[in-house]
Amino acid sequence: MRTELLGGLSPRTFLREYWQKKPLLVRGALPGFQGLLTHSELIDLACREDAQSRLITQKNAIWQVRHGPFTLDSFSRLPRKKWTLLVQDVNHFLPAARDLLLQFNFIPHSRLDDLMVSYAPAGGGVGPHFDSYDVFLLQGMGHRCWQISAQRDKRLVMDAPLKILHDFKPEQEWILESGDMLYLPPGYAHHGIAKDNCMTYSIGFRAPSYQELTNQFLIYLQDHVVVEGMYCDPGLALQSHPGRISSDMVSQIGTALGKIKWGPTDIERFIGTYLTEPKPHVFFTPPPRPVTQKRFSDQISKSGLRLDLKSRMLCRGKNVFLNGEAYPVGTKARRSLEKLADRHALPIAGGLDTGAVALLYQWYLYGYVEIGKPGLTA
Ligand code: SIN
Ligand code: CO
Repeated sequence: MRTELLGGLSPRTFLREYWQKKPLLVRGALPGFQGLLTHSELIDLACREDAQSRLITQKNAIWQVRHGPFTLDSFSRLPRKKWTLLVQDVNHFLPAARDLLLQFNFIPHSRLDDLMVSYAPAGGGVGPHFDSYDVFLLQGMGHRCWQISAQRDKRLVMDAPLKILHDFKPEQEWILESGDMLYLPPGYAHHGIAKDNCMTYSIGFRAPSYQELTNQFLIYLQDHVVVEGMYCDPGLALQSHPGRISSDMVSQIGTALGKIKWGPTDIERFIGTYLTEPKPHVFFTPPPRPVTQKRFSDQISKSGLRLDLKSRMLCRGKNVFLNGEAYPVGTKARRSLEKLADRHALPIAGGLDTGAVALLYQWYLYGYVEIGKPGLTA
């Protein structure tokens, strides 16, 4: 990792002193960074069905939010100032965006959400708010004034179509220029106002709420827990109130439900599948003319292999998780697949064990991995 990215701090020091604790402003985090796409390329993305985009306008303290996909026409009728376009998951479309995210490898991939890119002309922004995410706000083209506050008052403006703090009291303020970066822990109030035509790159890290995890774990259990037997009452006693639920029924069902058990293996499997589950709008495209497994194996040993930009991959114990599925693998295969999960690519995928090749081939047929080195098309 380049030492400038964290202003000369080592990742270890950053994690100890700042991560989830306090903001960090880094001047020249990525010296010379001008951005990864132009404003019109961002607009093109916002017009795609498979991208999530929002257009936020602000007029006399009245906020309006529209959701994409947009048409080019939507952008020709905008005011000159005070609007912003935000596109999520830009890393699904640009290899350079994935490379940018990989620079943040000092935070585990299990915490990563996406790269969101915004464009705003002067005065544009999303208003004062706080996020439940950790975020690195990296400035691309132009300038943005960031005001931040550790305020406890989290009351929001009522009836606004987006989260706007009712009483934002800025405590610190900076103007960020290309390559500068501001890290904010979750819940830290902030307000970014474009000073000129500006683009901001938000590297966002998710932290699911315990309620969300509980709901999802219960869904996982539905598919993985088996409780044998069936309710029975051969000794049914005559009830004077047939409309009542008997104590026998409550206790028999209670005993059956008490058999629902889970252990660390279930928790690992749940976390791996849940965190790698693609977002609902994400689809993979299988190769139009797939090569045979033999040819695939030859090609990856020469040209390498990379994850599709939309793929999410994690590892834990015997399991490799890819796009919402768990794949138990042997020790040798695990070593190379773990490298793929860490780097999103295997530059020269030769000498792989046959189990690993068979699995990679299956993923290739699903469109989860591609032949070739990062940034190059096969
Ligand atoms: C923006 O890029 O305008 C908004 C980023 C944020 O405040 O989280
Ligand atoms: Co924010």
